Amino acid sequence: MTQTRLFQLDPYNPDQRAIAIAAATLRAGQLVAFPTETVYGLGANALDASAIQRIFEAKRRPTSDPIIAHLASKAQLPEVAINIPQLAWTLIEQFWPGPLTLVLKRHPRVPAILSANLDTIAVRSPHHPIALALLQAAGLPIGAPSANLFAHPSPTTAQHVLQDLSGRVEVVLDGGPTAIGVESTVLDLTQSPPVVLRPGGVPFETLHQHLPEVTLNPRYLSLDDSTNISSSPGMLTKHYSPQAKVWLFTGPLRQVLAHMQATAKRLTGEGQKVGLLLPDEEQNYFSHLPAQLVQLGSETDLSQIAANLFAGLRELDSQGVEAILVRDFGREGLGLAIWDRLYRAAEGQVIAVSGFPI
Ligand code: TXA
Ligand code: MG
Repeated sequence: MTQTRLFQLDPYNPDQRAIAIAAATLRAGQLVAFPTETVYGLGANALDASAIQRIFEAKRRPTSDPIIAHLASKAQLPEVAINIPQLAWTLIEQFWPGPLTLVLKRHPRVPAILSANLDTIAVRSPHHPIALALLQAAGLPIGAPSANLFAHPSPTTAQHVLQDLSGRVEVVLDGGPTAIGVESTVLDLTQSPPVVLRPGGVPFETLHQHLPEVTLNPRYLSLDDSTNISSSPGMLTKHYSPQAKVWLFTGPLRQVLAHMQATAKRLTGEGQKVGLLLPDEEQNYFSHLPAQLVQLGSETDLSQIAANLFAGLRELDSQGVEAILVRDFGREGLGLAIWDRLYRAAEGQVIAVSGFPI
């Protein structure tokens, strides 16, 4: 156990004293959790193998799951990657700082443990003033996975970080809730054509506008379980799981809502404690049931749903529910990243409701 120091920072004007303490902590080979625009990260010096080892231990994460290196700017890129294609620079001009992670060839000076022994490295520059201030003050690339215990929902507040990692990280920088709420899009530029390995904060359609040949990892293209192969390191289906069992419904909306309502009735009738993650517009369908309702925001604005998703899973867990019922939000825009996180929270068990009335 280490003592965890918590600093509350104004994201628009981060206290330079706290940033200096956090940067010194990183340089000393210790761990700092910090906000990014997507989720909180658990950071260590990306060039220090034993510091990176500590990340895996603190998170209880298998060392087969590679970690993203965070950079202050594109100027740092040649320090961690080699054979950088022109396409990388073009995408960086468009999307950095921001939620786009690029997989490139790893520079030999970067310890292999960061990348789970792959000869590649995932890099991004986060669009968050606290993360950027920390990166600049540390003067190092920072290796940082999401700051949760392995397989828990990712943290979107400093409180979530402390729930999982208090006593396991030296410094936590609290910059309030993160804006995007789902992790970065991971784009592999070592394959041709480039492949999206994980949908995230930059929608596939947006990437496609800049890169018409981009493809999507086949696991996202259909509901068919045969495509559910772990084709990217660290892309296990069991991920983001709350304690409760997640029931993920998909299909025509009216039938889905009827099916969710019937399932909630049945489970509560059997004495189960049930929670529902719902857009604001659907609260009324369920308010008569003896169930916990969590509001995700308006279904007309997927950025609200994404921002509230992980916090909603954690909220229902903390209320001790045994079952969480939720529907998908399509596959367009941020819907695809939302679908991916829900699919994995449900451990790949999807209830595909048909068009027939029940
Ligand atoms: O938004 C984010 O990306 C957040 C914030 C903290 O930056 N970070 C994050 O890290 O989500 P993590 O470790 O939870 O997920 C990183 C994923 C890995 O699970 C893996 O799928 C992929 O990025 N990845 C990392 N390095 C890779 C590599 N060399 N090749 C292929 N995929 C890689
Ligand atoms: Mg993660």
